[in-house]
Amino acid sequence: MKILVINGPNLNMLGIREPQIYGRETYSSLVEKIENYCKAKLLDVEFFQSNHEGALVDRIQEAYGNTDGIVINPGAYTHTSVAILDALKAVSIPAVEVHISEVDKREEFRQVSYVRAACIATVTGHGTDGYLEAVDILIKNGEKK
Ligand code: DQA
Repeated sequence: MKILVINGPNLNMLGIREPQIYGRETYSSLVEKIENYCKAKLLDVEFFQSNHEGALVDRIQEAYGNTDGIVINPGAYTHTSVAILDALKAVSIPAVEVHISEVDKREEFRQVSYVRAACIATVTGHGTDGYLEAVDILIKNGEKK
């Protein structure tokens, strides 16, 4: 099983940006943590991070036909991007939306998610462990088939 982990804008600043909300773990230690988790479960995993909406759309499209599951934290684009929603729908690869913070309890604008409609599940407010939960959801979903 091959999983693609996509992170949107400002997630490269993890550990530096608003640590009271997003914690002290850096982006590279997040990648390492997910990599180790997937290795132990014999999964192939790839990572992509971009601050650009079009680059995120391009990477989702590139996954078509070669990826079994997507874990996506679209960052702020969660709340604005019809293009990312459409890309996820276009490739129809099972996707799980992840947010480090509890977006549903934050500002009103963060309580809206465009991408949610194209995802099989959402994990919010579990810190970076939420990415591991998302991997487990994709594994379970794959076993159903
Ligand atoms: C986030 C929540 C978003 O509202 C914010 O714009 C982010 C991170 C999260 O992981 O909690 O960049 O997706």
